[in-house]
Amino acid sequence: MKKVKVGIAGAAGYTGCELIRLLALHPQAEIIWLMTGKTNEGRRLHEVFPHLRGLPERVFQPLDAGAAGDADLAFMATPHGVAVSIVPEFLEAGCRVIDVSADYRLKDPKVYEEWYEKRHTAPDLLEEAVYGLTELYRSRLPGARIVANPGCYPTASILALAPILREGVARPDSIVIDAKSGVSGAGRSLNLRTHFSETTEDLQAYSPARHRHIPEIEQEFSLLSGRKTPVTFVPHLIPMIRGMLVTAYCKPVREVDTSELTELYRGFYDQEPFVTVLAEDELPRTKDVWGTNRCEIAVRYDPRSATILVVSVIDNLVKGASGQAVQNMNVVFEMPETSGLESLALYP
Ligand SMILES: NC(=O)c1ccc[n+]([C@@H]2O[C@H](COP(=O)([O-])OP(=O)(O)OC[C@H]3O[C@@H](n4cnc5c(N)ncnc54)[C@H](OP(=O)(O)O)[C@@H]3O)[C@@H](O)[C@H]2O)c1
Repeated sequence: MKKVKVGIAGAAGYTGCELIRLLALHPQAEIIWLMTGKTNEGRRLHEVFPHLRGLPERVFQPLDAGAAGDADLAFMATPHGVAVSIVPEFLEAGCRVIDVSADYRLKDPKVYEEWYEKRHTAPDLLEEAVYGLTELYRSRLPGARIVANPGCYPTASILALAPILREGVARPDSIVIDAKSGVSGAGRSLNLRTHFSETTEDLQAYSPARHRHIPEIEQEFSLLSGRKTPVTFVPHLIPMIRGMLVTAYCKPVREVDTSELTELYRGFYDQEPFVTVLAEDELPRTKDVWGTNRCEIAVRYDPRSATILVVSVIDNLVKGASGQAVQNMNVVFEMPETSGLESLALYP
């Protein structure tokens, strides 16, 4: 069987490391290069990630699309602002691209400029880029040249509300999202805010109503509901390494109950290998999806306050980033969608 030759840029970071872990065991993929930034350039794989000993030794190369060789696919696991300029070069070198960063997610370059404070230098590619929330865009992925892999908060938030926005059950002007992320969501580079002594025994909200994932969530909510859909979004940093939990609140357009909503969600996600709708008496926990590409969702109706409540959990580094990127690779190259992603959750 011919394997897909892949390279990973930003391979020395957390999402890059997860890509290496998942792709090394993928039956139809072969990693042919690892590129990184200034901190880890020239270092060996086992020096940077001793837990990956056992995999073939490799040296992290500097980021250079000219060194893409015969890669079929380049994963960009770099901070925002890096892929924006180098993706056109990778495409020219004949690679498809799955960008784990935010650079190709927003369709309007002016919105990118407003939220990322940077001009988009490849606006012509934004229309072509497929937003890689696999469950919603599967039919556009086969053969795609560029996939904009969703952010972690958008993945958990959009999967939580897509069924009731698309079915017109949720009032689009009533959405509030309270989201919580483990510290790995902030990446591997050193930063005072994510030090052990700063985050342990602590809980804090950050960037209320101005987090950079807001325009991405609003873009997709608006497409689902068919009208402009603003969101009140407040993320929180939780003292755990991995995991993300979203609690979404909205008002229904008509009378509903928990059983009807659960049935609606089950119908919507019926054929999805990585989304599980829990029973009416169950609630998701981040530990139940640790290390997996799964999203678990529970939906409730609170008749006292006339509010729909949805709770969803993912592992931010897997379904929220690298696992979903591999899921997208599988669909782009028309391989079984679950290839390389069958792992069970770690527990406890
Ligand atoms: N962490 C998450 O949960 C998560 C979830 C979804 C999406 N994302 C997105 O995924 C991307 C990577 O996140 P991460 O958490 O893996 O970050 P990270 O741990 O900080 O790793 C970043 C990687 O990019 C490299 N890099 C930094 N600046 C570079 C430059 N100018 N040129 C080339 N390479 C450069 C770094 O290299 P050196 O270390 O060698 O300098 C490192 O390999 C980000 O855009 C992030 O928003 C992250």
